[in-house]
Amino acid sequence: MQTIIEPFRIKSVEPLRFTTREQREKLLEAAGLNLFLIPAADILIDLLTDSGTSAMSTAQWAAMMRGDESYAGSESFYRMEKVVRDLTGFRHIIPTHQGRAAERILFQVVCRPGHVVPSNTHFDTTRANIESTGARAVDLPNPEAADTQSRLDFKGNMDVAALERLIDEEGAPRIPLIMLTVTNNSGGGQPVSMANIEAVKRVASRHGIPLYLDACRFAENAYFIAMREPGYADWAPKQIAQEMFSLADGCTFSAKKDAFANIGGLLCSNDDRVALQETNLLILTEGFPTYGGLAGRDLEAIAVGLEEILEPDYLHYRIVSTEYLGRHIADAGVPIVEPPGGHAIYIDAARMLPHIPRHQFPGQALAVELYRHAGIRSVEIGSVMFGESAPHELLRLAIPRRVYTQSHIDYVVEAILEINQRRAELRGLEIVEQPTFLRHFSARFRQV
Ligand SMILES: Cc1ncc(COP(=O)(O)O)c(C=O)c1O
Repeated sequence: MQTIIEPFRIKSVEPLRFTTREQREKLLEAAGLNLFLIPAADILIDLLTDSGTSAMSTAQWAAMMRGDESYAGSESFYRMEKVVRDLTGFRHIIPTHQGRAAERILFQVVCRPGHVVPSNTHFDTTRANIESTGARAVDLPNPEAADTQSRLDFKGNMDVAALERLIDEEGAPRIPLIMLTVTNNSGGGQPVSMANIEAVKRVASRHGIPLYLDACRFAENAYFIAMREPGYADWAPKQIAQEMFSLADGCTFSAKKDAFANIGGLLCSNDDRVALQETNLLILTEGFPTYGGLAGRDLEAIAVGLEEILEPDYLHYRIVSTEYLGRHIADAGVPIVEPPGGHAIYIDAARMLPHIPRHQFPGQALAVELYRHAGIRSVEIGSVMFGESAPHELLRLAIPRRVYTQSHIDYVVEAILEINQRRAELRGLEIVEQPTFLRHFSARFRQV
């Protein structure tokens, strides 16, 4: 069959609320043209993030009922630990309330001022947690990834030659670990090849530096490897994921992505000394090591979700349906980051709206128009989020897992193509108020 269907049926539904254009105009005005400040009830289709927004399965909800809420030694922890150990092989498995809590604990233990932590591309919370220790976060993406239009199979790869140069310049003792973000979220949701993970591991081992995965989207990355990397077509996604983890010395993980959970995270390693220090910090803010800031029921949801996420039918649908959105808008002339990523499609707003200069935030202007026109929420990843250091002006359409059907996505395609027809009419924005330094959450704008 040619038609790829959602590999689930719907048992419980959540109504969507339609608003009129007039209502949306008022909502936008009240929110200062900042979509983070619009109540979720007034959003028709929410593509703000794929994080924590997954629909859970009947098996996950059923497992939650047996959540063991014991303070110490919860059965739910041991069930989750068994699944994670089988998948990753790591000796120490520490639950946290979400990915950034794992990052904070890890970097507080291993980083000192003057240290440098290289990655293919750090996610913003990872960078912030490294830099809060006085260390420096360095991105070493594959140089060809800078061109949003280049179509590489593994555009999320790290530049291994640049890594070697960095180690020569800084010296291995100043590099507490090397990170690989799979898939590379800030780089367009692009995958990292097994060959690249192996090459980075070889360099890391030669210098005695541990390799960590930021494994948020490990399953999507594994499926890209199965689809694109020679030699892996016959491997199950789980085998590929196991191979990826076997090359690493530890990982941070947000269970809000590839574990279908609405909350949760993990910090894993094979280093007894580091794990002991991490556990001490965990107890300060997250909780006892058998719950780490989560309810027992959340641990159950993660345990089941980690097995469901690796089902080939699900992963095939996931990657192909994200590509469906990307191809339908790109083939009609909307410039996207090519090729389509795993969890999101990124529109290159600077290319789509060349008449809006960077300092007038083309990505934000497009996000506002998409909401005004069709009630769709997306997020700017450009100068609003990163200031002058933003490498591109992008609009990200992140797809929550198992939440929207093809007709929802067709509606998104139609809305984007209608806006593209009259893109010359869109106007830039200026910031009128910026109450906190995290301006993408709090700034208010007006049209210029
Ligand atoms: C690549 C990557 N790393 C880390 C995180 C942080 O995870 P969390 O939101 O659970 O704190 C995210 C979240 O979006 C992410 O995409």
